[in-house]
Amino acid sequence: MLRIPPKEELRDKPLLAPHSTLMPLLAADGPELWEVVDASRSWLDPWLPWVPFQKNVDASRRFAEASAREWDVGRALRFVMRERPGGDMIGIVGLENCQPLHRSCELGYWLREQATGRGLMTEAARTCLAFAFDTVGAHRVRVAAATENHPSLRVIERLGFRYEGRARQAEWVGGRWVDHAVFAMLETDWRSHEAP
Ligand SMILES: CC(C)(COP(=O)(O)OP(=O)(O)OC[C@H]1O[C@@H](n2cnc3c(N)ncnc32)[C@H](O)[C@@H]1OP(=O)(O)O)[C@@H](O)C(=O)NCCC(=O)NCCS
Repeated sequence: MLRIPPKEELRDKPLLAPHSTLMPLLAADGPELWEVVDASRSWLDPWLPWVPFQKNVDASRRFAEASAREWDVGRALRFVMRERPGGDMIGIVGLENCQPLHRSCELGYWLREQATGRGLMTEAARTCLAFAFDTVGAHRVRVAAATENHPSLRVIERLGFRYEGRARQAEWVGGRWVDHAVFAMLETDWRSHEAP
């Protein structure tokens, strides 16, 4: 089984990455989420299939509300990334498709365009992996990226995931089929990485 802390606990005591704060995504974040997604639409569109469905602030609010419910039932644990210092919302990182029986989940992430190129996602994703393995008790974390999404593939490589294979035409996104490179990290991989 997975041990999922209540989201209120993490709102009071957020996860701290070196240059960002990670807090569970709540309904109240909807309007700000809309601003960030809308400002980076052309940047996110080629890689994230949900972006065209974010047509207005209500859609973002509904997504944020659904995220809060999904946290409560333990299906998905999504964090708003806020830059520190400052506190501006810069993206989302989280654990999707949580499966208690298999103690598995999937890493997902995106950054607003202006926040890229500084190592912020690699740091935040590493903090999220520590949460997955050390707090939630995950046994396996999967991650997949389009085979042409080189920035994302470099994040995955820096995090130390192991390549498992290619899922052909796994996603219809940005008006074309994309193949996915699929990777995973086991708890034992994480622990051996952590060792000095
Ligand atoms: C995937 C995504 C989050 C990667 O963003 P990113 O900024 O490249 O990743 P990081 O924040 O980890 O930054 C790493 C980059 O900053 C550079 N960098 C600069 N200063 C740095 C520092 N002090 N520390 C670490 N890296 C630094 C690194 O060299 C690296 O650039 P490189 O890959 O060209 O070598 C971003 O491209 C994105 O949101 N894309 C659209 C959505 C998407 O594709 N999501 C993933 C779907 S699978």
